[in-house]
Amino acid sequence: MRSLTILLIIFYIFYLFNSSVNGQLGKCQRVNTKQDFKLDNYLGVWYEIARFDSSFEKNGICSKANYTINPSDSSKIIVTNSEYINGQYSQAIGEAYCPHPEQDPAKLLVSFGHQPFAGPYWVVDTDYKTYSMVFSCVNILGVYHIEYAWILARQPSLNTNLLTDIMSRWKSLDVDISKFKLTKQVNCQQP
Ligand SMILES: *[C@@H]1O[C@H](CO)[C@@H](O)[C@H](O)[C@H]1NC(C)=O
Repeated sequence: MRSLTILLIIFYIFYLFNSSVNGQLGKCQRVNTKQDFKLDNYLGVWYEIARFDSSFEKNGICSKANYTINPSDSSKIIVTNSEYINGQYSQAIGEAYCPHPEQDPAKLLVSFGHQPFAGPYWVVDTDYKTYSMVFSCVNILGVYHIEYAWILARQPSLNTNLLTDIMSRWKSLDVDISKFKLTKQVNCQQP
């Protein structure tokens, strides 16, 4: 009886993960990040072109991020995410840092005030001036994982051929591209 209860709880947790966040059985796939990543070249504004659909980001349009060096601690990056949710301007300020700048310069951790832990922000590839491919995956108890991916661009739109190319690259990395939702980047008024 007791083990049945535990089993039901586990199934319920899987069900919750599947319905609200991008949870999947198994461990995070191995994804290489950009070699010789130069954080300095990556700073500034990035527009969200596509993202994994998630409940906590629903309806957000005109989403963009601004990465700047923290003037009082140059090892930290201030992350300013902004978007419009149901017509309302919304801003979230977080902090990012690179735990192993020598070995893994493209593997950052990002945290926002309301979150209890920092989430991975891995730059899979970028040319710094046009596009960026960002991956985030967390293993849960070794049996489950939650993953997200983003396509960012320096401009609010991305060339269709380049976008197609990026999608096929995600696919070759075993990332389920059917989970990508294009982010609306039109009719964005400034606050
Ligand atoms: C990005 O943030 C920096 C530092 O706060 C600010 O000076 C700059 O104007 C911001 N850029 C945009 C486009 O919001």
